[in-house]
Amino acid sequence: MNSSSFVAIDNISKSEILELLERARYFEEHPNSKILDGRVVATLFFEPSTRTRLSFETAVNRLGGRVIGFSDASTSSTSKGETLKDTIKMVSNYADIIVMRHFLEGAAQYATEVTDVPIVNAGDGANQHPSQTMLDLYSIRKTQGKLEGLTITMVGDLKYGRTVHSLLMAMRHFKPVFNFVSSPQLKMPEEYINICRKEGIEFHEFTEFSEDVINSSDILYMTRVQRERFSDIMEYEKVKNLYTLHNSMLANSKPTLRILHPLPRVNEIDYDVDDNPKAYYFEQARNGVFARQAILTKVLGIDPLKKN
Ligand code: CP
Repeated sequence: MNSSSFVAIDNISKSEILELLERARYFEEHPNSKILDGRVVATLFFEPSTRTRLSFETAVNRLGGRVIGFSDASTSSTSKGETLKDTIKMVSNYADIIVMRHFLEGAAQYATEVTDVPIVNAGDGANQHPSQTMLDLYSIRKTQGKLEGLTITMVGDLKYGRTVHSLLMAMRHFKPVFNFVSSPQLKMPEEYINICRKEGIEFHEFTEFSEDVINSSDILYMTRVQRERFSDIMEYEKVKNLYTLHNSMLANSKPTLRILHPLPRVNEIDYDVDDNPKAYYFEQARNGVFARQAILTKVLGIDPLKKN
């Protein structure tokens, strides 16, 4: 197993998180260079993606590296029955780092056990999405000026939403107050609730998406109900439109409130919110390039300050 992979946010210390955020800030100021010249990055996406794949690929291109891979596993030999193990071992012959998204929880961790090439987890089932978390943290710190002591309200699919699981694990270092707003079917899994209890993190669970909750928040983190994780589509139909943010609901929110969403959105944020200065989800996605430049260079052991 290799040790330089970026698979779960749980294994990354507070100081490493802060170091990555500083690196991302450097890349926002210096997005283009040749520090990945001669490096090949493989992007293997066994599940659909727009932002994660394209921002990783933009990150590589802006740093002068090359990208290989697939965005649709049906065009790869997976469709002929090749196993994940064999795919990873093959691609390890061609690339210096593998960025992978897979529908199975634990797939990225498994990949680290079959190759010495560093693996970056771009989302594994309902488990984690650690590179998303780095851009979320970057966005939170950029808009709030700090990470410590913020009230973070997570809304929607807290059961299957891998972004909220990773964000909770990272924010636990920064003394947050969490509000969890979800239907009972999609509540935050007990393992994460237990982590909050064990670490003395204040949290509150709601089924109603009230203006009181919004008005107490520094960050409103909206999420999509993950249709692809439901085995019974009727269950999805029951919960898919329970929480929608409308502009009128923000009338008495804090002036510094920012609304985040990992995207894609379906019905969780009305288009009438988009022009509100508190809407930050498109800028959040832009920050993904800098956060992913930071992750790729860190995993490859490249210091941007030394190379420039
Ligand atoms: N936020 C996110 O993971 O978006 P994509 O599914 O488009 O990559």
